[in-house]
Amino acid sequence: MGKPEIKTVEWHGDSVWLIDQTLLPAQLAIVKCRTVVQVAHAIKSMQVRGAPAIGVTAAMGVALAAHLASPDGEAAVHTAVDAACRELGVTRPTAVNLFWGLERMRSTAEELRGAGGAAVAAGLAAAAEQLAAEDEATCRAMGRHGAALLTDGDGVLTHCNAGALAAVTYGTALGVVRAAHEAGRDIHVWVDETRPFLQGARLTAWELQQLGIDSTLITDNMAAHFMSQGHIQKIVVGADRIAANGDVANKIGTYALAVLAAHHGIPFYVGAPLSTVDWEVPDGAAIPIEERDPDEVTHLRGAPLAPDGMAAAHPAFDVTPHTLISAIITEAGVLRPPLAASLAAVRPAATAGSAT
Ligand code: MRU
Repeated sequence: MGKPEIKTVEWHGDSVWLIDQTLLPAQLAIVKCRTVVQVAHAIKSMQVRGAPAIGVTAAMGVALAAHLASPDGEAAVHTAVDAACRELGVTRPTAVNLFWGLERMRSTAEELRGAGGAAVAAGLAAAAEQLAAEDEATCRAMGRHGAALLTDGDGVLTHCNAGALAAVTYGTALGVVRAAHEAGRDIHVWVDETRPFLQGARLTAWELQQLGIDSTLITDNMAAHFMSQGHIQKIVVGADRIAANGDVANKIGTYALAVLAAHHGIPFYVGAPLSTVDWEVPDGAAIPIEERDPDEVTHLRGAPLAPDGMAAAHPAFDVTPHTLISAIITEAGVLRPPLAASLAAVRPAATAGSAT
């Protein structure tokens, strides 16, 4: 208790407020987005990042578009909603929560058609806030289900940031660790720094410090060593998109951890809400992988790490085959292999038959 809960993204009636994650851990600052262009920039530049956070932010961006257009009448609101969905839909390609959030807003706008500009805008604001509230409830439910997988004395390795900063609050994979900690279990977290964007070093380490959970930062290439030395009993990571067969796209480097976990006989868990499942994608090969600017590999905060002109690659995500995953922790419970069948069993009715 004590410290206030982190709110990664909040709707403020006429603006979207975000914690600027590019400034952490040095500075805890809020960006106030008053236009859709600013919301799109925040997602693209990773001021806000993490699959659930991106989905809710995009939804709030649509609410903002509707709010700004509402003085011009209902037709203008629908035009602005369509334009915002197009603009926000091309910010980042991998996390399916972005498209899920936009789809929820698009269908809400359709349901409200004819109610008048102000009513449509108000309905979209309420829908975006509802998504944020659902995200928190979902994370807490995942925490309750997943905490049972962690036992007293466990060393738990995590990659990237799947904490409160990657959602609206509480977190997905890190929420599981937090729930175990809150249940009184003695857990030590091993934090992969997560090259090249350093979400582990900058964000996960910061969150764990705030929560008072024991943790140690390691560089990504130390993971095998600490597994071989018996320090790591479980691995828990998040997901950006899960295919219907259970293949998981997550931050680059996740696949390597899953291979290492199989070699060392360490359970490999994925914590993700069902909004991260793309029911239309049969397997991981069909998941689009974001390619980011190679400068993020060759430079660190503007300082060169490599010779000038050096070519570099920067896929931001990789795909872990379902065969390497011990379980997926969702708000509907802990899903065990065969993952295709366990996922299908908890598929929300609203998503069934949505293939176009
Ligand atoms: O590029 P990022 O920082 O948006 O990538 C985030 C991740 O890969 C997370 O592990 C994933 O979104 C799950 S977060 C709850």
